Amino acid sequence: MDQTKSMTWKQEIENTLIKRIETCKKCDLYKTRTKAVPGTGYLDADVMFVGEGPGKNEDLTGEPFVGQAGKVLDKLLEDIGLSRKQIFIGNTVKCRPPSNRTPSTSEMEACKPYLISQIELIQPTVIVVLGSAALTSLFGSGQSISRARGKSMIVNGICYFPTYHPAAALYRRSTLELIMEDFSKLKEIVQNRKRKNEN
Ligand code: URA
Repeated sequence: MDQTKSMTWKQEIENTLIKRIETCKKCDLYKTRTKAVPGTGYLDADVMFVGEGPGKNEDLTGEPFVGQAGKVLDKLLEDIGLSRKQIFIGNTVKCRPPSNRTPSTSEMEACKPYLISQIELIQPTVIVVLGSAALTSLFGSGQSISRARGKSMIVNGICYFPTYHPAAALYRRSTLELIMEDFSKLKEIVQNRKRKNEN
């Protein structure tokens, strides 16, 4: 069977986007990438997660959150009854910053159109903003993740919900507890928004 014929329009657009990301040279991060990490998941997801950028394992595999931070994220998702199959996971920058440094403002700006295209394609009702870089990319500099975390912001009908990046929980137990607190709020938000859409 001709695979392209059975593809949904969303898959076709995402595939075009993936090709553009994989060949992107809009900033210098392409020079050191092994694989770009466009993002993965369900294209009709109600909930989308936005991380910072690929680390070593993601750069090698082309998949988001497959390293230690990914294990933390998987456990947090499991605790609130979500699986990766139900969500979409993207990143602020799609190529690994060398030595896992924070992406620069210009790198985030260069990559932002891809993230915006993914948001427009998926049309999630909730976007979980994981950490400071994602918060800065989406809301501009001058934002503080410790002030913004755990509070939802509705913009253009989408509920943005910032929390700490799961990698931060690897170093501090107290941060993990705060993320867990935020995820239990997230569970309620997701359920409420689902109910609203069903009515
Ligand atoms: N951290 C991120 O922000 N994104 C990934 O994909 C992996 C680790």
